[in-house]
Amino acid sequence: MLSRDEFIRISLETNLFFQRIMKEHMFFIETSLQPVEAANIAEADVLKRSFEQLMAETIPYANGVVSKGTVESNEFVTPYTLRAENVTSKLTGASINTSITKAEEQLVGNGNISNPAWLKKAVKDINARSLNMLGEVIEFKKKLITLSLECKIFITAYDELLEHITREALYYRDILRSLQRGERPKRTLCDELNFWNNIMGEHAQFIDGLLDPTERELKETAEAFNIRFEALVKECIETPDKLIIEKSKEATGEIMGYKKSATEGLLGCTIKSIIPPLLGDHVLREANHYLRILKMLPR
Ligand SMILES: [Fe+2]
Ligand SMILES: [Fe+2]
Repeated sequence: MLSRDEFIRISLETNLFFQRIMKEHMFFIETSLQPVEAANIAEADVLKRSFEQLMAETIPYANGVVSKGTVESNEFVTPYTLRAENVTSKLTGASINTSITKAEEQLVGNGNISNPAWLKKAVKDINARSLNMLGEVIEFKKKLITLSLECKIFITAYDELLEHITREALYYRDILRSLQRGERPKRTLCDELNFWNNIMGEHAQFIDGLLDPTERELKETAEAFNIRFEALVKECIETPDKLIIEKSKEATGEIMGYKKSATEGLLGCTIKSIIPPLLGDHVLREANHYLRILKMLPR
């Protein structure tokens, strides 16, 4: 069983990372659908705003309560997030609540304080509402996958990307359900590593597929990353040895650097692609999050 302080801290850290991820998934869907899909665009927009509302409520609880390590990992916001939001919102016309980002930039980590009982109740309520919203998000994503596979909608997001973001939502839901039972999520080490190594490999595939064909070098690097992460997934069957953790850490550190310079290149308009800058920053944050998980694993 988790102690009260652990429950509060882990819940807030999980929500701060994933609420943003979820609302950005809705932003990406909203801006990838065609004007004829007005109803689905509106649905994505409503879900995005609902998660933004939850984030705005979560941040004040999290301030001074989440650990220093999570704040410093740049998984909540990176130095590029605000700029990427401003540029991407301007280029697409879709709204982004940037006051949330500004508040997160000021977030202070502590994680060692003892929290009052009322905070546990408030956090439990945030978890419950996030779970409700997540249910809607998962259903919406699954509906889009079906529509896309049946060629009933034209969406400029790969089917694999829609499945990828659905898996991320299901992973988040698993964590929240465990936390609400007062437990840490139960996953084998290989399940955890394979989930994220798969995610990292797919990011490389998406970047490869969304770069302009003339961006040869960047595409080749992306392809090599995909091969590397796929091999790591194959290697980790049941009991991972320490080498797989080390290799995962090395590969993730490198793809993090690649995503960082890609985000800089997208913001600086020096890379030809159909990647919105916010997507660059989004996958960078996911790498930062995974890197923190890897650093916490026993060595
Ligand atoms: Fe994502
Ligand atoms: Fe992802």
